[in-house]
Amino acid sequence: MLKFESASLKGRKMADLIVLPFWKTSKKPVPAAEIDHFKEDASAPISHGDFVGKEGEVLVIYSSGKKERRLALLGLGEKEKISVEKLRRALSNLAKECRTRKIKEINVVMPEGLQEEDVVRGVTEGILLTNYAFVRLKHAAEELPALLTRVVLVGASAQALQLAKKYEAICEGVYLARDLVNGNADDVTPQFLADQARELSRKHSKIKTTTFDKRRIEKEKLDLLLAVNRGSHRDPEFIIMDYLGDPKSKERTVLVGKGVTYDTGGLNLKPTGSMESMKDDMGGAATVLGAMHVIAKLGLKINVIGVIPATENAIGPASYKPGDVYSSYAKKSVEIRNTDAEGRLILADALAYAVKNFKPTRIIDFATLTGAMVIALGHMGTGMMCNEDGLADALMAAGEHTYERLWRFPLWDEYKEGLKSDIADLKNVGERAAGAIYAAKFLQEFVGDVPWAHCDIAASAFLETPRQYLPKHATGVGVRLMAEFLESLCKK
Ligand code: BES
Ligand code: MN
Ligand code: ZN
Repeated sequence: MLKFESASLKGRKMADLIVLPFWKTSKKPVPAAEIDHFKEDASAPISHGDFVGKEGEVLVIYSSGKKERRLALLGLGEKEKISVEKLRRALSNLAKECRTRKIKEINVVMPEGLQEEDVVRGVTEGILLTNYAFVRLKHAAEELPALLTRVVLVGASAQALQLAKKYEAICEGVYLARDLVNGNADDVTPQFLADQARELSRKHSKIKTTTFDKRRIEKEKLDLLLAVNRGSHRDPEFIIMDYLGDPKSKERTVLVGKGVTYDTGGLNLKPTGSMESMKDDMGGAATVLGAMHVIAKLGLKINVIGVIPATENAIGPASYKPGDVYSSYAKKSVEIRNTDAEGRLILADALAYAVKNFKPTRIIDFATLTGAMVIALGHMGTGMMCNEDGLADALMAAGEHTYERLWRFPLWDEYKEGLKSDIADLKNVGERAAGAIYAAKFLQEFVGDVPWAHCDIAASAFLETPRQYLPKHATGVGVRLMAEFLESLCKK
């Protein structure tokens, strides 16, 4: 991954291009940093109106006698309206322009107008989140994208560079999550996820990883995970990553991620058109792995346990069956109305396991859980359900800061009626209307009174249409959200 460097304007190295930020005004655009040195170069395009400085505008011009052959005038819009998100988007446009032109080494003059940390965040995240490509499965070399290999932050203080390192660490977690989701389902198996978790504990001494194989899962009676796994020729895995960053504290946050490495729907087989993206059904697991990496890399003073129930939801002679009743870790029996509502089953066991064994202060789960959430929010954000307002508000705030936005849905008691079964304690499907809420309501049955938030990332984890700094396919959503939320806990 790209690592940022810093330099003064005078001391900067040669590069392919230098980025010069501008504000839009009612008259001509004005520099958003000390860039008098380039005044002459920029004057013609500005006086001819070729560049007005609007949000995300990029104009590449040529110069001689500078350390860079090209100058990129970058519009940030009106100074009064600047925000971290606008910076991310502007720098994302810049990174895309560089990719198109196969420009690899750039100098970026740091804009003013926001607090230092916000400037660093906007610039570094905008560049790093865009400077990603999943090329492992591409064989044609001529199609490989030209990514940036060197970015020098011009005018950045030592402290600013330090902050840049923090956002590098965070984006490393995002890349990890994206790579896992983008990988083939036949490569990213439950066993592969377990390997990844063990890899994290090799990299970070504060993470202890334990993985349960099928025999241990049977012994522990994680019966819903076993039920979903019946149709698969691959064994399930139950993954626990324990990060102890504050040994003196009894507080612990549990992160649970849905790890369905491929969702065929099971006997209630998904139709063509609904199955093609289902390698993304371990998106929640990827979020948790990415977040654990970031937490450990930043050395956050906090205790976090990541839990991933992992299996395929495949189809086979031993498949679990609609109409049958299965037991669960929590000893509640569940009537299976639809084998395609498998995520809530494996999560129910994981949540109940966490509640019983880890004394969690709070639990947050991430899951590509329902098509209904895709319908509700489109791909613009993540749906959240939460049984405690303080936790919900803190998560929403983290959502605004990272722009991994959350929208809260209700968990009204009346929904519980829809999950009643004639032959079991619960059924796994409610009504079609409010389908995302019924799924959350089902999960709530397994968390007791532990503060808990459920994040349905069915739409936000995987995009068919890229958007700003989010690429086509895996987005890595949730990693930055968790980094922000958990860091805010440390400050309390
Ligand atoms: N993994 C899917 C949900 C999903 C759908 C994720 C689209 C991403 C994009 C989940 O396991 C599922 O199949 N849910 C069913 C539940 C239904 C049978 C109650 C759904 O939403 O259709
Ligand atoms: Mn399903
Ligand atoms: Zn699923």
